[in-house]
Amino acid sequence: MDHFIYRDGILHAEGVALPDIAATVGTPFYCYSAATLRRHYQLFTDALSPLPHLVCFAVKSCSNLAILRLLGDLGAGMDVVSGGEYLRARAAGVAGEKIVFSGVGKTRAEMRLALTDGVRQFNVESEPELRALSEVATAMGTTAPITLRVNPDVDAGTHDKIATGRKEDKFGIPIARAPGIYAEAARLPGLSVVGIDVHIGSQLTDLAPFEAAYRKVADLTRQLRADGHTISRLDLGGGLGIPYTRSNEVPPLPSDYGALIKRTVGDLGCEIEIEPGRLISGNAGILVSSVIWVKEGEGRKFLILDSAMNDLIRPAMYGAWHDIVPVGEPAPEAIPDVFDVVGPVCESGDTFARGRPLPPLAEGDLVAFRSAGAYGAVMASEYNSRPLVPEVLVHGDHFAVIRARPTFDEMLARDTIPEWL
Ligand code: LLP
Repeated sequence: MDHFIYRDGILHAEGVALPDIAATVGTPFYCYSAATLRRHYQLFTDALSPLPHLVCFAVKSCSNLAILRLLGDLGAGMDVVSGGEYLRARAAGVAGEKIVFSGVGKTRAEMRLALTDGVRQFNVESEPELRALSEVATAMGTTAPITLRVNPDVDAGTHDKIATGRKEDKFGIPIARAPGIYAEAARLPGLSVVGIDVHIGSQLTDLAPFEAAYRKVADLTRQLRADGHTISRLDLGGGLGIPYTRSNEVPPLPSDYGALIKRTVGDLGCEIEIEPGRLISGNAGILVSSVIWVKEGEGRKFLILDSAMNDLIRPAMYGAWHDIVPVGEPAPEAIPDVFDVVGPVCESGDTFARGRPLPPLAEGDLVAFRSAGAYGAVMASEYNSRPLVPEVLVHGDHFAVIRARPTFDEMLARDTIPEWL
């Protein structure tokens, strides 16, 4: 459920008519609903209660400071994968003790940054990383809390580019080798083992792969405890999928996921951490765009928008589907037209949808891409020297620009022409 609904024939975000935002900030823009973000966060914490738990929002899915502040204020922790994301979480007011640091290629500088300013744990993904972290922490005279991210060799059954728990994926430590590496972690100075981490992929629409992975984690917990390690936390990753279209099969609900967690690892007495991104932010955001032209091609009609692959890359990168809806509610008797929906970027890959039935649309009309709150704005670039899309957060009947569109002067000012040219 989200809060993007038609009222009096106009698509609204909560109480705000989208054309009102368009008139203020121009198009394209990302628009988030605070009520939807809050609701989705709440679903997860309700699903895990009464287990001791921390919902660590995956910052990579939607990293605007205002979004992080909103979730942090609700009590969320954060899952970060870079020094930049760590600094964002801190700048949003999230305590270091609520930030888990994931990622397959943390640098020593990133380790130092998080150890200096506070971190809940590092989810360590390799032996070289483990040794480097031990050196860095020891040199700083401190101790780094760690889990090892294990790779359970489970196929998440999702898009190949976002599956992370198979043995051929670069992520984690092969689960069979975990006991040996935990033994090394226990011997190394400057490290304190606190638990186990696993994350098998993103946009999972079936609980079975989670179940397979979590059962392996439960077995490993018992084995590691028998070996004398303290396993008090289980970080179970993110990955629960969202419905991208209403005709899709409906993915499991957070409550089903919570029940699965209780069933598989609930009896271990561990604090549970999860790292959801998409399910919290995905359907809490839309991308609003204007029709530049309707162009008659050879046997097809192109709807040319003012947003492009640089603004929302998911269709070009993963062949992902996003529902596209007109901001003006179509009349019930409107006869759909069929469009190839494209952007202005000079690549044929800049195509959002082919052969998409949509209500009749004309130059200047507004359309919205649904489910664009996760991996939308954060994956945007300035390809074709197109300014990054602004972001707007709606709360009830008012809205705030939470990232302004850069001016061309600002964009040009980032480049430097050397004096010898
Ligand atoms: N934790 C870790 C360690 C991750 O790598 C990810 C996502 C998450 C949590 C959050 O997963 P979520 O709950 O959002 O599924 N750009 C792709 C998705 C990449 C996901 C990367 N890792 C897309 O647009 O579909």
